[in-house]
Amino acid sequence: MSHLPKLRLRMRRLRRTPKIRSMVRETNVSTSDLVYPIFVDENIKERREIRSMPGQFRIPLDDVADEVKEAAELGIPAVILFGIPSRKDERGSSAYAASGVVQTAVRNIKKELGDDICVITDVCLCEYTTHGHCGVVDPKTRRIKNDETLELLAKTAVSHAEAGADIVAPSAMMDGMVAAIRDSLDREGFEDVLIMSYAAKFASSLYAPFREAANSAPSFGDRSTYQMDFANALEALREVELDLKEGADIVMVKPAMCYLDVLYRVKEKFGVPTAAFNVSGEYAMIKAAAANGWLEEPKVVLEVLTCIKRAGADLILTYFAKDVAKMLKGYSEPK
Ligand code: PBG
Ligand code: ZN
Repeated sequence: MSHLPKLRLRMRRLRRTPKIRSMVRETNVSTSDLVYPIFVDENIKERREIRSMPGQFRIPLDDVADEVKEAAELGIPAVILFGIPSRKDERGSSAYAASGVVQTAVRNIKKELGDDICVITDVCLCEYTTHGHCGVVDPKTRRIKNDETLELLAKTAVSHAEAGADIVAPSAMMDGMVAAIRDSLDREGFEDVLIMSYAAKFASSLYAPFREAANSAPSFGDRSTYQMDFANALEALREVELDLKEGADIVMVKPAMCYLDVLYRVKEKFGVPTAAFNVSGEYAMIKAAAANGWLEEPKVVLEVLTCIKRAGADLILTYFAKDVAKMLKGYSEPK
């Protein structure tokens, strides 16, 4: 034994007891970091569980305020709303109807809860168009028409603001969408409404459960002419830079788990409020493994969200938000 060097520095001293570990822990997820996504469905009267997202439901308009209230009472500061309309058309006109599903939901929530919850609305067309794309489609070429789409996204954002949304979150990945929305909001007197841009949104196969839930899969082709190639990180930095120049208050990286390098670089380079979307496929994978007894769900969820925060997220959009809020209420280190 005497031939071994004397260890003056022993890293394990910092790990000896739970109290010591908690004192030197660098990152803690807190409920105040979380945003809870909610699907509001104008076609139903009773909540319906989403097949590929166990524990998540499509919520009828009459129940949405109660659903949000439950999240607020758990200490969750914000929800993000996705709408499932009763009517779709080529130009997604239900997305910007004054009495559309999201607009009505926001009014119901705000009437009940006021500023006790921050209401974020997803601004996109794919749930509202017959073809399921996030923009206007040219019938001849089948291309997505960028500049024509901007007007519709801006109209949608303004209609959400009129209903009382605190933050609008454009997710269509059209060029210039943040500028178009900022200009329209300001013109209509909504200069205090924030924009959280889905700035680096990748064309990911991990959105499949969401598309099943929202009935928003494209009927032809895919989203790779507008959402980003998952191979690219430098391009993500350009997207974020552009959105910030156009007036985004918060930028988002989406998905989260496989994109922590992108998240880290965005936070390092710009140092602005940064969100990460722990998407439906990430939720489904953990749920499926846990249901098989292959993973311990609460531990995995806490690890995943802590690592997303460690990589640079200030806020995390996650379907686990309510579960985590409950866990953290009585939380001490897992044994
Ligand atoms: C709408 C939108 C999508 C998601 C958020 N907003 C789906 C898509 O781009 O097809 C995905 C969220 C998730 O998978 O949890 N454009
Ligand atoms: Zn979309």
